[in-house]
Amino acid sequence: MAWHLERFGITGELVSLDVSNRSTAIARERAASAGIGNTEFRVGAIEDLPIDGSGMFDYIDCSGILNHVVDPVAALARLARVLVPGGGMGVMAYGALGRTGVYPAQEALRLLAKAEPVTADLARLFVEGLPDENWLRKNAAFAGVANTDDVELADILLNPRDRAFSVRDLVTLFAGQGLAIRTFLPPVMYDPVPVLREPTLRERANNLSQVERWCLAELMQGTLNKHVFYAVKKNAESGEIMSLLDDPETLMIPHGMNPSALAQAVLDAGREDQPVGIQFMVDGRQRSMAVSFSVAELAIMRLIEGPTAVRTIVERLGDKIDPPIVHDALRRVVTVFEKVAGLHLMRLG
Ligand SMILES: C[S@@+](CC[C@H](N)C(=O)[O-])C[C@H]1O[C@@H](n2cnc3c(N)ncnc32)[C@H](O)[C@@H]1O
Repeated sequence: MAWHLERFGITGELVSLDVSNRSTAIARERAASAGIGNTEFRVGAIEDLPIDGSGMFDYIDCSGILNHVVDPVAALARLARVLVPGGGMGVMAYGALGRTGVYPAQEALRLLAKAEPVTADLARLFVEGLPDENWLRKNAAFAGVANTDDVELADILLNPRDRAFSVRDLVTLFAGQGLAIRTFLPPVMYDPVPVLREPTLRERANNLSQVERWCLAELMQGTLNKHVFYAVKKNAESGEIMSLLDDPETLMIPHGMNPSALAQAVLDAGREDQPVGIQFMVDGRQRSMAVSFSVAELAIMRLIEGPTAVRTIVERLGDKIDPPIVHDALRRVVTVFEKVAGLHLMRLG
């Protein structure tokens, strides 16, 4: 985040908070080696954030924390209090169903270690010897667990305080602190409809509420072991896609994909009328979503090689394509790439 703010010349005060001296030292070193100078590093616990600190922060990044704190409700309550109304939170928390097999393995290791701490060597020996039918062994998300490095192995099996959440747990936890989850990422993985082929089931899924659809998708996917999502503090204006795209200065920032190269490949192959597979990564594994693009949409995508202002698209295509068509095509392009978390919108200032 610090890097993005510097890159776009956004001034602001960034604070890193971590209870561990060691983690803070590592974060400080990484920032220094990346030439990032806009962050203040503090050592401290979330639980000690001020109760009356309302509105201290516009945005909170909370990745991989709620699954390790003693009391997630108490920790989130503090975070919610220091967030300005309308402020956003980006969160990663472990997914319970996707971590099937992890917790029985942790418990088994504690039994084997008795009073001693569980070591990486013991954990490696243990997972190597697990029967093929064991749930951890069968869990595709942890297929390489026996061959992973010590840090990753420790993260999966040795953390003394580790819990996981279902989508419903998270919606309830956040709602309890006045925070509304807006989207899980990438949205396509949290939409049950594309997975359901049978029309009656599709229709039933389509009739569910947004939260029920997220829950259903989690239950059907089965392997979502890290929930990444965005929440906002309620009772405030939020920046929806539509209003952001109405501002010519809004930047569209591709993330892990190149819409321009994709469009060029479709045009070079003369396959404008056929679906193209958009590749994206979830938990280190590649997925694909098939989409058809109109000629106007492909023309827009060709212009998005890197961060691109809405103004650029309108100016470059305005005299070739009817403005209302550009307008609609731009919304479709953004909607499609946002589904796979392949494009972010950012408004400066
Ligand atoms: C898995 S790491 C994630 C670090 C960082 N957010 C990232 O994404 O790279 C979890 C971090 O949470 C910190 N932590 C755990 N409990 C905490 C608490 N109650 N208050 C503040 N930090 C905490 C740990 O020290 C550790 O550095």
